[in-house]
Amino acid sequence: MSAPVLTAVAWPYANGPRHIGHVSGFGVPSDVFSRYMRMSGHQVLMVSGTDEHGTPISVQADKEGLSTRELADKYNRVIAEDLQGLGLSYDLFTRTTTGNHYRVVQDLFSALWKNGYVTPKTQMGAISPSTGRTLPDRYIEGTCPICGYDGARGDQCDNCGNQLDPADLKNPRSRINGETPKFVETEHLFLDLPAFAETLGSWLSTRTEWRPNVLKFSQNLLGDMRPRAITRDLDWGVPVPLDGWRDAPMKRFYVWFDAVIGYLSASVEWARRSGDPDAWKQFWTDPSAQGYYFMGKDNIVFHSLIWPSLLLGQNGAGDRGGEPGRFGTLNLPTEVVSSEYLTMSGSKFSTSRGTVIYVRDFLKEFGPDTLRYFISVAGPENQDTDFTWDEFVRRSNFELANEWGNLVNRSVSMAHKNVGAIPRPTAPTAADEQLKAQVRAAFDTVGANLRRSRFKAAATEAMRVVGAANKYLSDEEPWKRKDDPERRDTILHTALQVVSDANTLLTPFLPHSAQKVHEALGGTGVWAAQPEIREVDDLDVPDRGYPVLTGDYAGEAAKWESVDIEVGRPLAKPSPLFAKLDAELGENGPEWAPIVT
Ligand code: MF3
Ligand code: ZN
Repeated sequence: MSAPVLTAVAWPYANGPRHIGHVSGFGVPSDVFSRYMRMSGHQVLMVSGTDEHGTPISVQADKEGLSTRELADKYNRVIAEDLQGLGLSYDLFTRTTTGNHYRVVQDLFSALWKNGYVTPKTQMGAISPSTGRTLPDRYIEGTCPICGYDGARGDQCDNCGNQLDPADLKNPRSRINGETPKFVETEHLFLDLPAFAETLGSWLSTRTEWRPNVLKFSQNLLGDMRPRAITRDLDWGVPVPLDGWRDAPMKRFYVWFDAVIGYLSASVEWARRSGDPDAWKQFWTDPSAQGYYFMGKDNIVFHSLIWPSLLLGQNGAGDRGGEPGRFGTLNLPTEVVSSEYLTMSGSKFSTSRGTVIYVRDFLKEFGPDTLRYFISVAGPENQDTDFTWDEFVRRSNFELANEWGNLVNRSVSMAHKNVGAIPRPTAPTAADEQLKAQVRAAFDTVGANLRRSRFKAAATEAMRVVGAANKYLSDEEPWKRKDDPERRDTILHTALQVVSDANTLLTPFLPHSAQKVHEALGGTGVWAAQPEIREVDDLDVPDRGYPVLTGDYAGEAAKWESVDIEVGRPLAKPSPLFAKLDAELGENGPEWAPIVT
């Protein structure tokens, strides 16, 4: 049996609708990967949810005049809809404000505490001199001590992506009224990161398959592992299960501490909802299970160092030793797959700076597969990459519509018109055999790239097959073979076989169109399954419900292999797969996101 695969997808903050920059980092890559893994016979558990605590949520709630819970409820739903629209096949997309999440976070913390990896210490925290109240990190602005950018926030620098402590900022000032914050002593809990440095170092040195930028970045940070606060002076977050802390109104876990534990809590929630509460274990404690984590580059440190430290501490496997907590011995990530940024005119997509293309608007006009394809083939896989409407139009028109859509359309139409069904082949020529062999071989090359999250290479290899098939049709000219119907049918059979196989190769990227091609070839039933939104009750907190994304993916027919098409299966007249986009779109952008020059 193939190893079980956990696909752990970064949790979007529930503070606004998603833009295409967000989903190019965590969204599309994780789904292409999961779909491929399922097709090739792995049991996959793909989990995530909205990240709903901490300052990112409080700040936006203040802006919208909502309570933090109202804001989180609002955007949890909006984001679930955005991700469903893109066809992201989560087994469970949940949220961090569930009773289940609170308990898993507290239990994992208790194991760290028992094993001695957490210590209380006093630290300097900011308060507003005029009100005497705690000034949350996000409300403090100043100069980044690392890159010198002047608009850095107390929790992170948007310019260099480093996570900060407000006390690190040079020239700190309140974003509320400009005053200089006062720093006073406050007690916090610190995770003993140095106790994991050595174990992490030897573990990282075995991770040779990771993208070099992710590995190097993580290894560089190893030298500077200092104890890190895992609590904040805040009223919105998971309470700390210790006497003296539990009921303190302004002491909560830091949002990143609770969020990364979400991978485990969502797996536990999925298992509890599946009817087998232990089902999560096969993805976490079976030593052969693999865990792939997908995110944008500003999240790397949390996944390659902090989350592994929490896992090691829970397992009792850092320098201080200890016993595994109630979750048993949990697996470290197999791979941390991080993308770079999708930029627009050179700057990071950002809601606050006004460069934004929302997923919802995009889907309404262009549907999910064009965006999935663009991100896969031209996204920020290894370097920051500019999104331009011009390139989007070019890729959609030339690669999807002209190359792929046209191959499907002309192959199926000719067979429909001449035979009304999948034609019977007779004596195949060398050209026929060669093309079929090429597409069969692509299962290995495309698959090997997908397993290693090399999406550009994978999509390019799959499209190479499509190009070869188009060339084959132009060379063989079945439309000129009126006098030789046997040869014509053999050519059409070959073309349809290649369409069928290429469709399988493209299914992880283009699951919605793949379903249509499956039907155009006379197939029935679900080829590529899609996620749905279900309303569920919180498993632990009475009278609270929320939407989750989930789906029946085991029921889909798509398998990563060449399947012989069935001679005689009736074919209907096909309809075009992809609409051609107007060239004007490339020049001016759509009305809802015009290009400003
Ligand atoms: N909410 C974070 C962000 O958008 C990502 C959290 S990933 C998690 O940058 F694993 F910690 F949840
Ligand atoms: Zn910086």
